[in-house]
Amino acid sequence: MTIYKVGVVGAGLMGAGIAQTCAQSGYDVVVREINQQLLDKGLARIYGAWEMMASKGKLTHGQVDENRTRIRGTLDITELAECDLVIEAVIENMEEKLRLFPVLDHTLKPDALILSNTSSLNITQMGAVTKRQDKICGLHFFNPAPVMQLVEVVQTISTSQETIETVKQFAISLGKKPVLAKDTAGFIVNFLLIPYLLAAIRMLENGMATRDDIDAAMKLGCGYPMGPFTLLDYVGLDTTMWAAEAIYEEYKDPLYAPPPLLRRMVISGMYGRKSGKGFYDYQ
Ligand code: 3HC
Repeated sequence: MTIYKVGVVGAGLMGAGIAQTCAQSGYDVVVREINQQLLDKGLARIYGAWEMMASKGKLTHGQVDENRTRIRGTLDITELAECDLVIEAVIENMEEKLRLFPVLDHTLKPDALILSNTSSLNITQMGAVTKRQDKICGLHFFNPAPVMQLVEVVQTISTSQETIETVKQFAISLGKKPVLAKDTAGFIVNFLLIPYLLAAIRMLENGMATRDDIDAAMKLGCGYPMGPFTLLDYVGLDTTMWAAEAIYEEYKDPLYAPPPLLRRMVISGMYGRKSGKGFYDYQ
């Protein structure tokens, strides 16, 4: 199957990054949001990234203009009808996804693929509310989506091999390296990353070391690009908590239980960079 037109549902941090990646790889992209304010914010993020790339000489102004013509924002989900492949990147909440998937199933042409960018929710369950379970799989991007090379292609027990091959080729066409994972909570990366991030929070809670020393230790001692608290703020504390809860729900392994400090920060609206405050202050 050849992909020409891509739909992205959700223009938040991940949705905007995914739409940007697809448009700058030559695809026509329709991005759908639920209100104008969120849509404008997502599009501004994308245009800003292209301007930044132009200022660094990575894109010409002509290429920026070309990219802009390939991307269209909408509030109307029926405008996704002509897409060959749609990636959902809405909030990490199963009820929201279960509301969205039947609507996409009804709206899209019969052979279109529906992919979820979920970081850890059950994709089999999302597919089960559609009549095209063979055409549903995960395509999990990493933040910042235009920069990080990896994508996880997640196969449910119903995803056809043809779908997997098409999605792998699509990922390669975006300049990404696809890895294949089964539909188990956390897939590959978050199954390994979440316990590390939660352990750092527990160390802080228990007074074993300071935030800055833990960050410096992992950055300078292990060569990670960011220490765990910088990364938590970057990924979002809310996103991390939802991922941890989803994996905990599946395995009931205490390693994945969100520590009290994380819960309280999320309840207080301290989501990290996107809210202006997390483990660090960005105001
Ligand atoms: N579009 C295009 N280019 C972008 C961009 C965007 N939206 N955002 C950043 N860039 C480019 C910058 O222009 C820069 O390019 P240059 O090297 O040519 O100048 C390059 O990316 C690096 O950015 P910066 O110079 O601003 O900053 P750093 O060198 O510190 O790198 C980083 C930033 C790439 C984020 C690096 O710190 C890093 O790799 N951090 C770890 C990120 C990570 O682990 N992500 C995965 C999180 S887990 C996840 O997402 C899963 C989820 O389910 C929880």
